[in-house]
Amino acid sequence: MTNDLMRFSVAMPEELLVRFDRLVARRGLAKNRSEVVRDLVRDALIEDECALPGVEVMGTLTIVFDHHANDLQEKLHTIQHDYVDNIVSSMHVHVDAHQCLEVIVLRGEAGLVHDIANLILGTKGVQNGRLVVTTAGESALG
Ligand code: NI
Repeated sequence: MTNDLMRFSVAMPEELLVRFDRLVARRGLAKNRSEVVRDLVRDALIEDECALPGVEVMGTLTIVFDHHANDLQEKLHTIQHDYVDNIVSSMHVHVDAHQCLEVIVLRGEAGLVHDIANLILGTKGVQNGRLVVTTAGESALG
């Protein structure tokens, strides 16, 4: 396979195309329909790949919590030590007098990374959060 661009045509309802063109416009002057379609296809491929068991992924988990909540910080700290091989780094930001934001970088097998993230997200006192996973595989970069 080469990186030569191949052309193909896409049929879609007019209303969907109008909304897509608005999305293209919001992504800035440098973007056109083809580039946005390529971005969306890459995103879908990465998301699909990251859901496969056994695939190695990198993830960032962002959580917000109240540091006054009962021994929550100690629980979060313990989890991070328990999974020291999978938790690469974390950054703690003091948002205001009560709230903290933490960004935790994970790596490892997709299922395990999701399990660790769910363990942290499910810890009582974590108000909200989100895991974003990606791969840096060759197939994701084309
Ligand atoms: Ni804090």
